[in-house]
Amino acid sequence: MHKVIVIQGPNLNLLGEREQHHYGTATLEQIHSALREEGKKLGLEVHDVQSNHEGELVDVIQSSRNRGFQAIIINPAAYTHTSVAIRDALAAVGLPYFEVHISNIHSREEFRKKSLVSDGASGIIAGFGPYGYTLALMGVHRFIQNS
Ligand code: DQA
Repeated sequence: MHKVIVIQGPNLNLLGEREQHHYGTATLEQIHSALREEGKKLGLEVHDVQSNHEGELVDVIQSSRNRGFQAIIINPAAYTHTSVAIRDALAAVGLPYFEVHISNIHSREEFRKKSLVSDGASGIIAGFGPYGYTLALMGVHRFIQNS
């Protein structure tokens, strides 16, 4: 069974209560449990982690290859727009990664339009709400099958 890790950045622990007009009403645990179920159907073992701390996210990314993951699904949240450290960690590990944003970052404030991780991503999904994670998982499944 292939292993995929879903990495969630700061404030995503507040999904369900946070700015519902942008992020919907599903909680992070609901999203993760749906992904685990979807993963089972696709033959993927889905792990997840959320942190509000940049260094912790870097540590998780760094260890993901040695922990046997074949791909990363990542929503770096606010760090998308600021973190050279997360960008460098993703580049250093070299695993295929897929960037997800719940909201359409291109239809919001100017500073959200720039992502420091997009150019290295194997795929990007934004604006589909929490369903974007499921779309990403389906994409990862196809990607692994074809590689
Ligand atoms: C987000 C978009 C970011 O700009 C924001 O800082 C987030 C969530 C999204 O999923 O739409 O926290 O990554």
